[in-house]
Amino acid sequence: MRSNRIITKKQSFDKAELRLNETLFCNANGYIGVRGTLEEGVPDFISTMRGMYLGGVYEIIPMKQAESLCNLIEKKQTMLNVADTQTIYLCVNGEKFDIQSTQADCDRILNMDEGYTLRTLAWKDKDSNRYEASIKRVAHFEHPNLFTIEYRVRSLDRDAEILFDSRHIADVKNYSDPDDPRLADESEAYLEAVMSEMTENSSIMLAKTKVSGISIASAVGHKLFTADEKGNLKEIEINGDQIDRIKNGEIRGTFRVHIEKGQEAVYVKYTVFADSIRESDPKNKSREILCEVMGKELSELYKVQKDVLTAFWQRADMEIQGDDELDLAMCFNMYQLFQSSPRMDKVSIAAKGLSGEGYEGHYFWDTEMYALPFFILTDTELARRILAFRYETLDKARENAGLLGHKKGALYPWRTITGEECSGYFPSGTAAYHINGAISNAVISYYLATGDTDYLLSEGEEILLEIARLWLDTGNYDRDGKFVINEVTGPDEYTCMTDNNFYTNCCAAHGMKWAVKIFRELGNRDEMKALSEKLGIDDDEIEKISEAAEKMYLPYDEKFGISPQDDSFLQKPVWDLENTPKEEFPLLLHYHPLHLYRYQVCKQADTVLAHFLYPDSADKETMEKSFRYYEKITTHDSSLSTCVFSMQASRLGLYDEAEKYFGDSAKLDLYNRHGNSGDGVHTANMGGAYMAIVYGFAGIRINEDGLSVDPFLPKSFKGYSFNFCYRGRSLRVEVKSGEASLKLLDGEKIDFCHNGDKYSLNSVGAVSTWKLKQ
Ligand code: BGC
Repeated sequence: MRSNRIITKKQSFDKAELRLNETLFCNANGYIGVRGTLEEGVPDFISTMRGMYLGGVYEIIPMKQAESLCNLIEKKQTMLNVADTQTIYLCVNGEKFDIQSTQADCDRILNMDEGYTLRTLAWKDKDSNRYEASIKRVAHFEHPNLFTIEYRVRSLDRDAEILFDSRHIADVKNYSDPDDPRLADESEAYLEAVMSEMTENSSIMLAKTKVSGISIASAVGHKLFTADEKGNLKEIEINGDQIDRIKNGEIRGTFRVHIEKGQEAVYVKYTVFADSIRESDPKNKSREILCEVMGKELSELYKVQKDVLTAFWQRADMEIQGDDELDLAMCFNMYQLFQSSPRMDKVSIAAKGLSGEGYEGHYFWDTEMYALPFFILTDTELARRILAFRYETLDKARENAGLLGHKKGALYPWRTITGEECSGYFPSGTAAYHINGAISNAVISYYLATGDTDYLLSEGEEILLEIARLWLDTGNYDRDGKFVINEVTGPDEYTCMTDNNFYTNCCAAHGMKWAVKIFRELGNRDEMKALSEKLGIDDDEIEKISEAAEKMYLPYDEKFGISPQDDSFLQKPVWDLENTPKEEFPLLLHYHPLHLYRYQVCKQADTVLAHFLYPDSADKETMEKSFRYYEKITTHDSSLSTCVFSMQASRLGLYDEAEKYFGDSAKLDLYNRHGNSGDGVHTANMGGAYMAIVYGFAGIRINEDGLSVDPFLPKSFKGYSFNFCYRGRSLRVEVKSGEASLKLLDGEKIDFCHNGDKYSLNSVGAVSTWKLKQ
């Protein structure tokens, strides 16, 4: 397994660069997310997105509809900026440090093998005495409530007085941008500090949201040391005098250390968060955890962090030869996905992970359709947790279906934190019923890759049945006896509220077939009997679901020989993309939605995704013609698009196109290719880039027939390799010029298919090797 997954960047004093680095160097562990803001802050004229977030913690805010039509959503949840505990001002011999006026040389480092970020600083005072500092931050995976900062300052030329002025601030606001629909439009302080308490080396504050009534405790602990030139630490006792309340909602710790020339002052700041969603007494819980973690050596905590990542990379290792930028970008993408994944209940993966406030911390279909496949293949435990969120919110999805007038079934919200709908514009929000398709597809894919029948019996089948019921209630039989689904929005948000969106009908049929199949196959199990009783579902209803799936209408257009996106799509004029000025993209920021809806122009992959996911939905010729048709009218204004075109091109054997569409998408965030990574990472695209390699280039397929592998080598790669998990085994794909192989790294004998032929790997270490197609 390779190591050295390290990103290093010089920090310039440029606003855009600072903001971008806040995203790239964010620390997260699925519960806590801390943007990579500078501890000492930036001057007032620079607005960055300073933020610390907690997964699944939210405030409820009004979302007034201009016209109050029946059952429109009038409030939404929004992710909160919680207590700022990253603020630490530094004074050296009475001079306040900041990177601009001190002209410090500053490097930012992300170490993905060990799970920390580091900022190193070197500067001189006015008398040319040299100083160095390093600031290491960790959001701990094994202790999801814990975030630490280790701040070290060395004086190289003289004895020095070091002062750490460390803040614990409950009085914080959310970030906003009224000109960007992807961000909240008002800056609000959602939290009110209700209690604070101090001991000799710690402080605890309890803050409460005004409407959702969630209490959030933040406990901050301090340790102070000097380190000699060999690194030996000597602890300095902290007494209560150093910690004081400077105003309501802000506590300050003032820690002075005298160091001799060559020595270091070391300050360690522990932050523990706990909230009332998960804890009955968050204040005491945060105190308890703080005591526990402060009782451990920091080096011990770092070792555990490293061990978690060693195990993760062992499962997920990927290497691309021939493009170092891409290789590093893929490590970064996988690391960010891992950082964003839930380690607690009642939380899922947000569109921006925990790296920023873009999309207000909401969970979309991005989670199940784009991020989850990565976890299914690399960390089935995390995959299972991600799926758990949709079971936890199944009742809310049932209520949501009711609001929409459905008599039975569950309709998951288009965007949410708690399971309630947060979309204010229903044509491209609530009407996107395909969110249900993404979730049923996720349940089935997880089952196919793991064989986890217990999951189906305890949670999965209940979700599948409730989704199947929803489809049955949404659609109807037309005059030709076909089951049709009208007035829904597919993935392409430049076409809304249409009849028979090909993608939606495909995923509905797929989910319904599987709901029936599992119901029948596991029908004798007690758990299944109990489930049918709980849901009041009988053979007659199952038969109706089965029939609707069989008779699902999938539109086909004779003239073009393609699958039309929906019933009316091909009647519309084609948008003149060639003559649309560059500055008018993304179109959504320049054209009224209704105008866009009247053209054949796609924001993102729609029918092409259906063809990729459901290979039986059309024949190869229809898929090829459809691919060519849709590629001419798709803007890829959404970052969820090019990866899908790449995967489908690989599947169709269009290898040059597969490479073209893969293009820069994997590099989007690390190299800020869309110019907006400062708002947070694009989680779905990260998962999409992974799929484009694993499902696309390597041709991994997992279906009822088992596993198949059909790789090719993109021309710009020298080779690539990756590990993945399948049915309890760990496997490794290696592809290089002229040759590809699959190796069993761990687990029992495994059968698989390559190019239609059957192979077996009989024991650990066994390898099958083939000549490459291209
Ligand atoms: C895309 C959606 C996506 C959402 C969040 C939108 O721009 O069109 O498909 O779910 O962003 O990433």
